[in-house]
Amino acid sequence: MKGILLAGGHGTRLYPLTTSLSKQILPVYDKPMIYYPLSMLMLAGIREILVVSTPTALPLYRELLRDGKQWGIEFTYVEQTRPRGIADAFVVGREFVGKSSVCLALGDNIFYGHGLPEKLQSAAALKSGACIFAYPVSDPGRYGVVEFDAAGKALSIEEKPTHPRSNFAVPGVYFYDNRVVEVAPRLAPSARGEIEITDINNFYLERGELQVETLGRGFAWLDAGTHESLLQAANFVYALQERQGMMISCPEEIAMRRGFINRDQFRALAEALQTNHYGNYLMQLLREDFRESPA
Ligand code: G1P
Repeated sequence: MKGILLAGGHGTRLYPLTTSLSKQILPVYDKPMIYYPLSMLMLAGIREILVVSTPTALPLYRELLRDGKQWGIEFTYVEQTRPRGIADAFVVGREFVGKSSVCLALGDNIFYGHGLPEKLQSAAALKSGACIFAYPVSDPGRYGVVEFDAAGKALSIEEKPTHPRSNFAVPGVYFYDNRVVEVAPRLAPSARGEIEITDINNFYLERGELQVETLGRGFAWLDAGTHESLLQAANFVYALQERQGMMISCPEEIAMRRGFINRDQFRALAEALQTNHYGNYLMQLLREDFRESPA
């Protein structure tokens, strides 16, 4: 399976922060925002990743993420010349996806929770159909919303409904078989002038091929698209990291633990960052010999 990281858009809800900076490069405590969804793809075991962004922001992502070899993965970059909607990632990314299945991660979505890597890995193992997640929120009308029947089967998905049929929002990580690259270019733009990811999900739902996994208590799903949610996300990461002494979404650590890089490569990354707390953390992992945290 391949991965797409979507870091497009103008981020107008974050102006003036994003007047001259791409939203997904802004800090969420001690890392650029895009490290969080990137880590999710890495945890799912995905190593070929396309970064989609605007012509002005793309060079920033190239500088930040480079070719990916440092983390044992491979980045490809493609421009999205106009923000045509989330589903457009599969139009501009069609060549990259080729004949593969694909996971799309939105660049401003942050996930955290015990058991998340296993859930991601089982979604990434899908052979046909699609897999998305559902997460209870207090303000479902801001998102794609899934309605379930009494047996927990998904009945409908609506984009930003005025009268949500449930409080289950669809977070920004989606797994699809290869048909998604055929479906996306045929979608008609919605009232907001975008081709909607919800329409892709409905394509699979109508055919009985959409698996919806619920993420309940014990998981955090945060988006960092407004001033308030950006601060909340940073506070969340800070509080957990400080308390447990373990980093959330550290690509170097994930690359090492997943065997994408070896100890020498990891040491080189750690040494280059030694002057700050991020590098100190990496050095400490080396000293502790990557002792696994207690489950
Ligand atoms: C988008 C999707 C929506 C999804 C949300 C997750 O919303 O359209 O279905 O629930 O991302 O972050 P947007 O960011 O375009 O408002």
